Amino acid sequence: MTTRRRFTLTQYLIEQRRRFPGASGDFNSLVLEVALACKAIARSVALGELGNVLSHFGEDEVSTAVNIQGEEQKRLDVISNAYFTEMTEWSGNLAGMASEEMDHPYQIPAPHPRGNYLLVFDPLDGSSNLDVNVTVGSIFSILRAPQDVIDSGRDVVESDFFQPGAQQMAAGYALYGPSTMLVLTVGNGVAGFTLDPNLGQFMLTHPNIQVPPDTQEFAINASNSRFWEPPVKRYVDECLAGKTGPRGKDFNMRWIASMVAEAHRILMRGGVFMYPRDTKDPSKPGRLRLLYEANPVGFIIEQAGGRASTGREPVLGVQPTALHQRIGLVFGSKNEVERIERYHREPVAYKDDNPLFSERSLFRD
Ligand code: F6P
Repeated sequence: MTTRRRFTLTQYLIEQRRRFPGASGDFNSLVLEVALACKAIARSVALGELGNVLSHFGEDEVSTAVNIQGEEQKRLDVISNAYFTEMTEWSGNLAGMASEEMDHPYQIPAPHPRGNYLLVFDPLDGSSNLDVNVTVGSIFSILRAPQDVIDSGRDVVESDFFQPGAQQMAAGYALYGPSTMLVLTVGNGVAGFTLDPNLGQFMLTHPNIQVPPDTQEFAINASNSRFWEPPVKRYVDECLAGKTGPRGKDFNMRWIASMVAEAHRILMRGGVFMYPRDTKDPSKPGRLRLLYEANPVGFIIEQAGGRASTGREPVLGVQPTALHQRIGLVFGSKNEVERIERYHREPVAYKDDNPLFSERSLFRD
């Protein structure tokens, strides 16, 4: 039997670096440090209840029990955050970090040297799924630090991170599912790696991931349907109408409630994901975070030939104005996302008379 020799993540990164003969290797080393953090998180997640990390914090620990978004933190959220900071802060590659789990930017502590990059991450996306042993993941984005930060080595401030998604140098996610995977773009397509638990190495298993342009599958939290804006209602109604409706084909619906897992499904077989802006809470212009979720996933999806949008404009063009900013997000198969954007441009064309979602719902008197 001949064994098939696969590229490791390290080999892949070295190959990619050959495109930039002047590159120092700092960037590659940073990606490998992030990958190590993801491997450590994968181990903690895999231990499940045995690791005693799934629960929320006790009453005596309440000071760390809620993050700045008002969401309850689980022990594993905090542990995962610590893996990210500890594995990356020492090497001199980073000027600073920002995390969904930290209120303010993280400063690289002395005596560690400071470097050229900013690391932005959601250490454990979908953590409400931990209790039920459903796939969760980590999402990260690498930005170049502003030049004056690099030159002066000063502390980072929030506005240093306010870079549109199109400026990301790299983005990726790790998926802690039946197998552990790392999916990465360094701006030259998207590659997927599967963790070989025997070698402890991410091996290149999905060299050039492409999102099919068309799909018959969509993902949305339909419990929010009464808060959706008309273009979203129209799109979903038309999908639900199936073969006999205006789309002339049947659609499947999915909702995992781990955005990172939905992104992976869409990268593997197409589909469209929506967590659009809605009227549920006017103080929140969306559910998902621009810097930690929408931008990295948007970059990956677009590098794989898909499209990522707020519904109104490409998500990668949005100028961030706050570290924990939320935004409406629609991404996936290009033709579907473009259709949803079109519906946002022509909202008046739709008369909302579907009894499932209109004012006089099937579920009301
Ligand atoms: O932002 C965290 C997250 O868990 C996403 O991964 C997921 O898509 C979403 O929230 C789930 O939201 P909901 O609880 O409304 O289904």
